[in-house]
Amino acid sequence: MRIYKMKDYSEMSRKAANILSAQVILKPDCVLGLATGSTPIGTYEKLVEWYEKGDLDFSEVKTVNLDEYKGLDASNDQSYYYFMHKHLFGKVNIDLKNVNVPNGMEPDAEKECARYEEKVCQLGGVDIQLLGLGHNGHIGFNEPNTEFDRRTHCVDLTKSTIEANKRFFASEEEVPRQAYTMGIGTIMQAKKILMIVSGKDKAEIVKKAFCGPITPEVPASVLQLHPEVILVGDEEALRLL
Ligand code: GLP
Repeated sequence: MRIYKMKDYSEMSRKAANILSAQVILKPDCVLGLATGSTPIGTYEKLVEWYEKGDLDFSEVKTVNLDEYKGLDASNDQSYYYFMHKHLFGKVNIDLKNVNVPNGMEPDAEKECARYEEKVCQLGGVDIQLLGLGHNGHIGFNEPNTEFDRRTHCVDLTKSTIEANKRFFASEEEVPRQAYTMGIGTIMQAKKILMIVSGKDKAEIVKKAFCGPITPEVPASVLQLHPEVILVGDEEALRLL
């Protein structure tokens, strides 16, 4: 495991974008696993900046996103598709046929999860998976006590995740109660994992995930078993490591 301790959020974002752009330059038709949340916004900003300078070409890149709220359509400004379009897809020369986000509007969970899992497989797997970290250790929407071998599935969000994500909605009642997420088994198959963390409120969970026991109670702790993990964080988030 490689750890980059950066001065602040901006430096964390630059380093993460450096790593993702290295992947795109080395393999122009790579499969990027992407994430939402507030942490990756700066990383996407850097990628857009370098694309605009002419240093990056996304024309052959394929992407798969980790998760999507069930019941929100792509045009809903709280959907993860909307987020990705706003921060990255709509700002670079990616072919929208090559972007994949679970379809939150498919009511048949079994059907949608099987379709998504098959898609990841058809693409030949993920070259590098970007991950944020939930305060309870969740990755994607894999909440504590999810089995490590789960594939893409539908989850009931925990109270703490609903609480953490309500800041993006008009009220807590509007936060969807369910989501489709790649499972930990799907995430662990990525060739490389790039986790980004920022802020002092993540320090405790970062310590638990990377220095504590490997347990489904802390989903991100499974990353200790992955052969190629890169952790990029700011000083505040990594201060207990
Ligand atoms: C959400 C997402 C996760 C993300 C997490 C942390 O629940 N499903 O993929 O990593 O929040 O978000 P933030 O980066 O805003 O702390």
